Formats: sequence, structure tokens, C-alpha cells
Amino acid sequence: MKMSGNTILITGGTSGIGRALAEAFHDRGNTVIVTGRRQALLDAITTERPGLVGLPLDLDDPASYARLAESVRARFPALNVLIANAGVSRTEDLTADAWDAAAAQAILDTNVSGVLRTAAALLPILKRNADATFMATSSALALVPRADFPTYCASKAFLHSWLISLRHQLRDFPVEVLELSPPYVQTELTGAQQAADPRAMPLGAYVAEVMQLLERGDHPRGEILLERDQPRRWAERDGTFDVLFAAMNPTA
Ligand SMILES: NC(=O)c1ccc[n+]([C@@H]2O[C@H](COP(=O)([O-])OP(=O)(O)OC[C@H]3O[C@@H](n4cnc5c(N)ncnc54)[C@H](OP(=O)(O)O)[C@@H]3O)[C@@H](O)[C@H]2O)c1
Repeated sequence: MKMSGNTILITGGTSGIGRALAEAFHDRGNTVIVTGRRQALLDAITTERPGLVGLPLDLDDPASYARLAESVRARFPALNVLIANAGVSRTEDLTADAWDAAAAQAILDTNVSGVLRTAAALLPILKRNADATFMATSSALALVPRADFPTYCASKAFLHSWLISLRHQLRDFPVEVLELSPPYVQTELTGAQQAADPRAMPLGAYVAEVMQLLERGDHPRGEILLERDQPRRWAERDGTFDVLFAAMNPTA
């Protein structure tokens, strides 16, 4: 993708990976719009960084998308990069009698329907502009799941497959389709403890590496994947799925 001179909208831009990407793209001379539900964070981010724009978007509110699309059409008709990054992650104990499919549905609403609705609202604008890119954030857990996050991992597997089809369908349009597959990164995705977990990759280091991969165009098949995540990506092909799954899901 082009690295400067874009008009970029990032969902889930109020914190974590989305916010860090927003700042990195803003530093490189892009117009950047961040979205999220937390208005106080949108205000804080745009005050700290004049030039960044904050627009409210609640992925779980179907009416929110039309409002966003209307704002973008009116104020940012040059939108050419959409990063559908927002998501939630929760553990679920499927063996508990109290497990409720509504909990799984809530994850799917945000992680799956949220991306589809964002795409439906904004792809019509993107398709009309030059040098367009649609990126969505899946996960390195998409293809080898952590069993304690069953619906989360499945939601990311959905995105992986859906993005392959979208890329194929858009092959005659000037829209590049990218899949960002982060490893475990220090954000508050699963709570404050994750941001300080030494097993997770520091957020700044992760986003710096992503920007380098994008700058070099080093993302075969449109997948933005760190070198260390290649074994999980190719586990089925390499015959290592069972070993990797067992290592990630110890039973003892
Ligand atoms: N960190 C990791 O280890 C990791 C690994 C693989 C993939 N990912 C993916 O990376 C993406 C970003 O996560 P993160 O780690 O940066 O966590 P994060 O800091 O919790 O960011 C999540 C973002 O999504 C937004 N969001 C959540 N629910 C929303 C909703 N219903 N409507 C609108 N916005 C919503 C949040 O904004 P508001 O709360 O302001 O709405 C927030 O900006 C997610 O898709 C996640 O699955 C993260």
C-alpha cells in the first residue's frame, strides 16, 4: 500500500493496535480518522495529536454505520484506506452449564458482523478512489486456536477465509485487500494484565514491524504476518498442527 498521502479510517482506533497504527500512519503524513465507542478517548487522542480526527462508531449498533458513512462522504470523500481493526476477546468455558450462546453471539456480532458492516458501509467510497486498501485485523490464533477462546479464534478464522474471497472478488478493482494477523501483543484486549504481560510482544515493537512489512510490500497473499508466526500459519500444510495445538493448549 501507499504509505503517505492517504485518507485512512481505523476502527478500534481508541486504544491498542488501532491507536498505535493511527499514530504511525499520522507520523508518515496521512490524514487519519479513528473510531470507537469511548468518546472521552476520541477527545483525548485528537487533543494530544491535532490532525487526527475522531468519529464515534459502535459496531454493535446497526444505525451507527449509516451515520459514519454519511460523515465520511461529507467530510472525507477521498477515503482510500479502511482498517477494520476493532474487536473483542473473551474466554468461554463451553463445559459449564451456565455457558450461554449469547456470549458467543456477542463476540461474533463485534468481530464478524462488525467487520462486514464496516466494509458494506465504506467499501463503496473506497472503490471509487485511487490506491485503495482494505485491511482487517484477524489473529495468529485464526488457524491454530487457543481452546479457551473458542468463539474468538473462530471469528478470526472467519475473517481469514472471508478476506480471501473478498480479495478474489475485488481483483479487477484497484483495492488491495490485506489481513493483519497479530501475535499476542501488549494491549488491554483481554484486560489490563495483558498490557504488562512479558509473554506478549510490546505494542511499539509490533507496530514498527508491521509498518516495515507494509513499506517493503512484504506480505505474500496479502497477509501481514511476523516471521515467528509462520509455523502456526502453515501448521496444517506442514503436518505440525497437532504438536502446535498441544503446545498452545496444555492439559496438565
Ligand atoms: N493484542 C493482541 O494480542 C491481539 C492479537 C491478535 C489479534 N488482535 C486483534 O487486534 C484488534 C485490536 O485489539 P487490541 O489488542 O488493540 O485491543 P484493544 O486495545 O482492546 O482495542 C480494541 C479496540 O476495538 C474497539 N471496539 C471494541 N468493541 C467495539 C464496538 N462494539 N464498537 C466499536 N469499537 C469497538 C475499542 O474501542 P472502544 O472501546 O472505544 O469502542 C478499541 O479501540 C482486535 O481485532 C483484536 O482481536 C489483538
